[in-house]
Amino acid sequence: MQLTDVEKRMRDGEQGEPVRMAMEILMALGEIYGAERLIPIRSAHVAGLSLKSHGLAGTEWAEDLAGKGARVCIPTTMNVIGVDRSRDLKLPEEWAKNQLRIETAYECMGCFGTSSCVPYYCGFVPRFKEHIAWAESSAVAFTNSVLGARDNREGGPSALASGLTGRTPLHGLHLDENRKGDVLFKVSAPLTNIADYGALGSYVGRIIGTRIPVFEGINVPSIEELVYLGAALGSSGGVALFHAIGVTPEAPTVGSAFGDKKYEIIEVTAKELEEGKEKLTSAKDRKVDYVAIGCPHCSLNQIKELSILLQDRKVKEETTLWIHTNVAIKHLAKQLGYVKVIEDAGGVVTQDLCTILGNPEALGFKILATNSPKMAFYAPGSNGFNVWYGSVKHCIDAAVSGSWKSS
Ligand code: F3S
Repeated sequence: MQLTDVEKRMRDGEQGEPVRMAMEILMALGEIYGAERLIPIRSAHVAGLSLKSHGLAGTEWAEDLAGKGARVCIPTTMNVIGVDRSRDLKLPEEWAKNQLRIETAYECMGCFGTSSCVPYYCGFVPRFKEHIAWAESSAVAFTNSVLGARDNREGGPSALASGLTGRTPLHGLHLDENRKGDVLFKVSAPLTNIADYGALGSYVGRIIGTRIPVFEGINVPSIEELVYLGAALGSSGGVALFHAIGVTPEAPTVGSAFGDKKYEIIEVTAKELEEGKEKLTSAKDRKVDYVAIGCPHCSLNQIKELSILLQDRKVKEETTLWIHTNVAIKHLAKQLGYVKVIEDAGGVVTQDLCTILGNPEALGFKILATNSPKMAFYAPGSNGFNVWYGSVKHCIDAAVSGSWKSS
């Protein structure tokens, strides 16, 4: 790889051991992916900060780096961690203690403690064509597809290396020629809420793998629906970029989405959407003991909707309702009175953590209800939960009645 004089000095350790190590990581990745050079980036988002992903060895690695003076040189946000810093959720003490060690180490390196998979809801919004190095598959799908930023699916260490150097190898989705679509999905299925978009992403993700899907016929989705579509594509498949005709910035027309590329066409009717929903449902027992909303983390608008659904209602005593968001959104939701309505009903608005990367299984839950395709996809393996998947209204009804009703 060609390096500038400054980069050569970084590689040789002139800016300290952490930057030298970061350069080693980036150069190794560049060699693997055939990058000719590094490019400057405007921001990084570090993921894999849960104790589940980091482990104790990773915790010590981060502490060691922080102790050696590692400091990020561009705005670098942090993904979800596994505890709620604002309250005691009765998670195991040892877990919470070690989890906070990870967070402290990254904050010491200068990362923003947003602790969220939706930093774009907290003011970190990459611009069209801006090169970034973000980890967290749902955030990568959103920034690439909806904002038109340039990003590859980074891992935690490579995103941190980029935060420490302000650079990433030039390859993959940083290059315009690699951003054209592979398969056109003509959608005639009715899409009325987040769970429908999640089911669409789940169905398409299983077919498309890491290729680039292009959607036609999804009209005018909300930001949250696009976030959940990307999260589903990124979890059931390995999608880092999708286009939607007339919706996302690189796809005003079918021609612009594909360029000269030949492409396959697949129809998505109500039947395929139903298949997507069925794949996300693994429970048989209708008794629900845990309802979790907010994967990716809820927007303010989603929390408002939840407060309306919970107004003058009570979550069943044997059922726990957790709504995941980040500190910034929670603060606003509190100011606006939404958190009070939810908590008066017996729900909990968590901050910084989530079901998959936290440890709610330690509290003994068995049957989860959610409207999140990503949570439904990972929870059986990650938490050992059986899952009911459906709309947010369906989930809140389950929290109140303690059981899942057929739609
Ligand atoms: Fe976010 Fe955790 Fe889901 S990081 S996308 S809430 S698995």
